[in-house]
Amino acid sequence: MTDDDKRIAAEAAVSEVQPGMLVGLGTGTTAAFAIQALGRRVREGLRIEAVATSLASERQAHDLGIPIRDFATVASVDLTIDGADEIDDDLRAIKGAGGAMLREKVVAAASARMVVIADGSKRVAAIGGRAVPVEIVPFAAAFVAQALEPLFASVTLRAADERPYVTDNGNHILDCRSPRQPLWPQIEAAIQAISGICGHGLFLHQVDAAYIADRGVVSRLER
Ligand code: A5P
Repeated sequence: MTDDDKRIAAEAAVSEVQPGMLVGLGTGTTAAFAIQALGRRVREGLRIEAVATSLASERQAHDLGIPIRDFATVASVDLTIDGADEIDDDLRAIKGAGGAMLREKVVAAASARMVVIADGSKRVAAIGGRAVPVEIVPFAAAFVAQALEPLFASVTLRAADERPYVTDNGNHILDCRSPRQPLWPQIEAAIQAISGICGHGLFLHQVDAAYIADRGVVSRLER
């Protein structure tokens, strides 16, 4: 079952956590299993601190008794464990279906090691089947959408309850589907050059390893 696979991938990654580490907590249903497993280890006496990539993960960790630091006061993280929407065997990933990719990207960049956890449905031969989310300042919505159109055949403003979805940072998201060309580094550079974007869900270089569980069997991929 998918949930069992999410849990065993998460538990495999959490076994990398060592006493004294500052751990980055990802966001999403798979990361929630990792936070649960880490909470168990903390209750058993593991001494660590953590930073969260979303308010939801921060709340979950707090409720489980995991000591949380404010990331605004933190310059480096030892190990981050996070989910992904898609990941290929070169450890290129798309993240952000849960809307947390901006904080996830910053925490990943600050991390000595970033590990993705996923069930087998997330493993793909080539990324690009899922939307690439682009976080934007609301002021720039129409301008950025137009600038993204040469890159993607479909660019849509993410909605929730018939209103624009609002991230933990108070921003909006444009979900970009069907890239018009296959070269992700060029697409990434073009997205990053647009004024008004705050971040995006392409993780081409950040992932150091992945634990992927498929029908109960965990594979570990290393960069
Ligand atoms: C959150 O914004 C995302 O990057 C998640 O890590 C990603 O969407 C995976 O989520 P699930 O584990 O819920 O599939």
